[in-house]
Amino acid sequence: MSNEELFQAAVKAAERSYSKYSGFSVGAALLTADRKLFTGCNIENASFSLTNCAERTAFFKAVSEGYTDFSAIAIAGSGTDDFSKPCFPCGACLQVMSEFCGNDMRIVLSDGEYKLSDFLPKRFCEESMK
Ligand code: THU
Repeated sequence: MSNEELFQAAVKAAERSYSKYSGFSVGAALLTADRKLFTGCNIENASFSLTNCAERTAFFKAVSEGYTDFSAIAIAGSGTDDFSKPCFPCGACLQVMSEFCGNDMRIVLSDGEYKLSDFLPKRFCEESMK
């Protein structure tokens, strides 16, 4: 699957966004190491802090189905139907990603491909507690 195809899967996933409070739709498309695709959208709540981001929805779907090895995630976010502006992953999602992914995890945005280490060069992880 090309980066463009993965990004379009994220745009499609944003159609399911439940974002009545912010009006900002986000979709994520997560590719496992064995090339299975999990998608997710942001799911908001009247109690705002309970909102789940699109990336974490995709990760939790995949992990709960037994997949823990990943190669790439595409993220698309917009307040309209124009997804051309890059939607950077939030810190909480980067921390969740870092639990399962190495520095070279590919993060595909509208403006190209990044690595997890571009956004999170240092991480709190299991090693940090030893
Ligand atoms: N959002 C995501 O889904 N992913 C991110 O990485 C950043 C923010 C969502 C949360 C909320 O529903 C909306 O975007 C506005 O913050």
